[in-house]
Amino acid sequence: MSRLRSIFSILLVSILALCNFNGALGSEEAYVTLLYGDEFLLGVRVLGKSIRDTGSTKDMVALVSDGVSDYAKMLIQADGWIVKTISLLENPNHVRPKRFWGVYTKLKIFNMTTYKKVVYLDADTIVVKDIEDVFKCQKFCANLKHSERLNSGVLVVEPSEDLFKDMMTKVNTMYSYTGGDQGFLNSYFPDFPNARVFDPHASPEELKSRPTPEMERLSTLYNADVGLYMLANKWMVDEEELRVIHYTLGPLKPWDWWTHWLVKPVDVWQNIRINLEERLPGTGGGQHPNDELLVKFLILLPFVFLAFCYYRSYLQFADAAQSKVPVYLGALSVVVCFVAAIISIVLSFSSVPRQIMPWTGFLLVYEWTFTIFLVLFGSYLHLIHRWGKYVANQATSFSSLDYDSGKGHLRQTPSCDVSAWYYGLGMAFFALAVPLLALMVVGGFILASFMTFASEHLSISAFRRGYEDKDALRIGT
Ligand SMILES: *[C@@H]1O[C@H](CO)[C@@H](O)[C@H](O)[C@H]1NC(C)=O
Repeated sequence: MSRLRSIFSILLVSILALCNFNGALGSEEAYVTLLYGDEFLLGVRVLGKSIRDTGSTKDMVALVSDGVSDYAKMLIQADGWIVKTISLLENPNHVRPKRFWGVYTKLKIFNMTTYKKVVYLDADTIVVKDIEDVFKCQKFCANLKHSERLNSGVLVVEPSEDLFKDMMTKVNTMYSYTGGDQGFLNSYFPDFPNARVFDPHASPEELKSRPTPEMERLSTLYNADVGLYMLANKWMVDEEELRVIHYTLGPLKPWDWWTHWLVKPVDVWQNIRINLEERLPGTGGGQHPNDELLVKFLILLPFVFLAFCYYRSYLQFADAAQSKVPVYLGALSVVVCFVAAIISIVLSFSSVPRQIMPWTGFLLVYEWTFTIFLVLFGSYLHLIHRWGKYVANQATSFSSLDYDSGKGHLRQTPSCDVSAWYYGLGMAFFALAVPLLALMVVGGFILASFMTFASEHLSISAFRRGYEDKDALRIGT
């Protein structure tokens, strides 16, 4: 019995091995993408997952350039990509966007002659429905975008060394309106806007009856960009039929956590991302192991700091000494408050890793903005407090020699000012509520008014407390 089972399993293994072998030899068609640097790594992972989710077993080839780390190569290979290292094709345009330094490399897909047909997809695209029919496209297919220009984010190419060589002879002379590969392809295929639309349902007889077209246009379903979505806040094509979503908007790439809050179709991308398998330790759900440690550290640090601050308790106030408060203190505090708020937001945005989960990103930025603001504005209040002390001592050094030393000792005991905490918590509450109210103008206005009012109040009470504390300073010195 067990012998039978082992024979059976050997048979099964060899059949599987044979299938794999055939697969490796037989794949004449492939999906291709390009990876220029690690920034797009997560994009490539999600794209690969989305292709496999549609049930495709075709080769997936990632053309990887010099700027990509070994770790990234290992990871996408584990995800099922065939990694091919290529050298960059230098961009011949001297006037071009900086991020376009290597985009002419994309032309190398025309040279992938080991395949009969390749479907090229940018790393910022995902496949949401089976697109195997697009391999029927014959020589060169692309989608026509806004105005009469082809978009190079999704291409179907029949690789040909002659075509590629011809392109290479023209790379240095042909005009590129974008300063990149897309502009070049538009010049190279000037008749593209007149190409007929690719029909995936055309019968073989129909195809035979007419000459092979040099180029065909893909319908928008194969390259639906989020720009199109943003215009009407819905897909302007049949959503059920959508095949490829292209996250075109420059600074709003789906892997940056904040785009989840700004661009609705990012949901689709994130849903694929959270299902990414753990191919290497700590990479499940599209996490980066380095980020994970950093995120834990970033979450904890402010708490440690706040505990320390509580111990030092900056924000405890007494009252009185109203008359000595300088008239410009209020206005100064409002300015400091807003500068501190802006600095906190900028600093926290720049210190939080970009490609973490949307909620983690949001909470971390909130936590850090809050903490940095507390440090900055708290230090300012501390300064004001000392200033109050200084003014008080100036005033008394001439007049009173008969100060009561016991008084200072009494006031050393922190008298927690309820209103200071009330204002501080109010600031925190509004700062939290405003983003949740989807950045409404009214919310912003309320926050601004409250912060103005509260910062004024806080600084004046800090000054007054300093003024009251004059004796404590004298005893200390
Ligand atoms: C194009 O492909 C051929 C054959 O695979 C290869 O020898 C050649 O180096 C390739 N050219 C470039 C510029 O990559």
